Amino acid sequence: MSSTVEAPLFIPPRPDYPGEMPSFPAFLRAVRTNALLMWPDYAYERDVVESRILGRAQMLLNAPEAIHHVLVGNPDNYRRTPASIRILRPIAGRGLLLSEGEDWRHQRRTIAPAMAPRVIPMLTRHMASVTQEMIAALATREGQPVNLLAAMQSAALDIAGRSMFSLETREFGPEMRALLTEYGFRLAQPHLMDMVLPPGIPTLRDLRRRRFQARWMALIDRIIDSRPATGVADDGPRDLFDLLRDARDPETGAAFTRPQLRDQVATMIVAGHETTAITLFWSLYLLALDPAEQDRLAAEVHGPNLGPDGAADALGRLTRTRAVVSEALRLYPPAFTLVRAAIGPDQAGAVAIPKGAILMISPWVLHRHRRLWRDPDAFDPSRFLPSAPTPPRFAYLPFGAGPRVCVGAQFALAEATLLLAAMIQAFEIGLDGDQPVMPTPVITTQPNRAPAFLLRRR
Ligand code: HEM
Repeated sequence: MSSTVEAPLFIPPRPDYPGEMPSFPAFLRAVRTNALLMWPDYAYERDVVESRILGRAQMLLNAPEAIHHVLVGNPDNYRRTPASIRILRPIAGRGLLLSEGEDWRHQRRTIAPAMAPRVIPMLTRHMASVTQEMIAALATREGQPVNLLAAMQSAALDIAGRSMFSLETREFGPEMRALLTEYGFRLAQPHLMDMVLPPGIPTLRDLRRRRFQARWMALIDRIIDSRPATGVADDGPRDLFDLLRDARDPETGAAFTRPQLRDQVATMIVAGHETTAITLFWSLYLLALDPAEQDRLAAEVHGPNLGPDGAADALGRLTRTRAVVSEALRLYPPAFTLVRAAIGPDQAGAVAIPKGAILMISPWVLHRHRRLWRDPDAFDPSRFLPSAPTPPRFAYLPFGAGPRVCVGAQFALAEATLLLAAMIQAFEIGLDGDQPVMPTPVITTQPNRAPAFLLRRR
C-alpha cells in the first residue's frame, strides 16, 4: 500500500443536519435518540444559537471568547444540570465528575497528583502489555472479518483494570461491560422529566437508576476487594488505586474515605474507558478509509519499540500518530456536549446570559464550525502536526477546559497514541464493505454499528 500521490482530503460520514431549529417535540426526540440532530445547519456558522425550552433560555455557545468566559473566566457561576446529575450519578456516584463547590475542590486537589504527567511512564507499561496481547490475538484472525470496536473496548477496559487495580479484567470485564451497556441503552437517555424536575424529586426512571446504581457500585466494591493485597511496601505505588488510596488533600491533609474511593474508581472507569475506546475506534476507522494517511503513519511507527520497556520513550516521538488521534477527537469528540446551568446572570464576551439559562458548549458543533476551521468536515491530521499553525483557542475542546478540564487527558492521549501506533505497526487495516458508519451519541459519540475490519500483517 504505497503511494506517491497525496490522497485528496476526504469527508468522513456525518449525519445531515436539520435545515431549521427543530420543534419542541423534535428537539426532545433528538435529545433522546440522536443529540447530533438537536441543532440546525446554521448553528455551524453562528456565534450563539438561542432557543427556549419550557420558558427557559437555552444557548449553544460557539464564540471562543464566550466559551473561555464560562469555562475559565467565571466557572463558579455554572453548575452541572439536574439532567446530567440524574443520568451520571448512578454510574459515577459522588466522585470528581459530579461534585461541586468545596467538595469538588477537595477531590480535585487530592486526585491531581495521581494523574500528573510524571505518572504516565508507570501507566505506559500496563498499556503496552495489554496492547501486545491484543495484537497477538488479532494476528490469529488475519484475513478474516474482525470487530475492532469490541477489541478496542476490551483493551481499554483491560488497561483501566490493570492501571487502576493491577488486575486482570478477564474476571470482571464482561460483567462490567454488560452493566454499562444495559445502562447506556435503557436508562441513560434524557427524558422531559429529567430536564424539568429538580434533582431532589425522583422520577420513576430515577428509581430504576438507583436500583442500577446499587448493582454497579456492588461490582466496583467486589473489584476493589479482590485486588492483590501484597506488593505495595517498598516498591512504591503499583497502580492508580495505590496512588488514590494514599493521596492526601495538600491543604487539609484529608484522605478519601472508602465510599469516596469507590465512587472515584467508578468515575474513572466510566469517564475513561469508553471515551478512549471510541477514540481508538474512530481513529482506526478514519485510517481504514484513508490508506495514504495510513501509509504515512506506517512510516512513523516502523522501528520504535512500543513494548512495555520502550513505550514511554517512544511516546514523545509519535507526532503523526498523535495528530491522527487529535483529528479523530476533533471529528468524533467522545464528549459531544458540555452542559451547564447559569446560577446567576452573566456577560460572556458579547453574549448576555440570563440567570437559570442552560448553556451548551458542544465540541461536536465547535469542531466543525465553518468560521473557525478550514475544511471543517474533512479528515486532515496534518492540521495537528507540530509544524502546523496552532488550532484556534477555545475552538478545540475534546477534553473541556478550565478548572474542570478532563483529569485523565494525558492518560487518554498516551493510551490512544500508543495503541494506535502499535496497531499500525502490526497491521495494514482495511474495511470489509463500504457502508458508512454513523456517529450516534449514547452518553459518548458511539458508532451506530460495529463494522467488520480486515487486517493484514505488515
Ligand atoms: C479520549 C478520552 C477522554 C475524553 C474525550 C474525555 C473528555 C472529558 C471532558 C470533555 C471532560 C469535561 C466535562 C465537563 O467540563 O463537563 C472530562 C472530565 C473528566 N474526565 Fe475525561 N475524557 C477522556 C478520558 C478520561 C480518562 C482516561 C479519565 C480517567 C482516568 C477521565 C476522567 C475524567 C474525570 C474524573 C473528569 C471530571 C473532572 C472534573 O470535573 O474535575 N477522562 N473528560
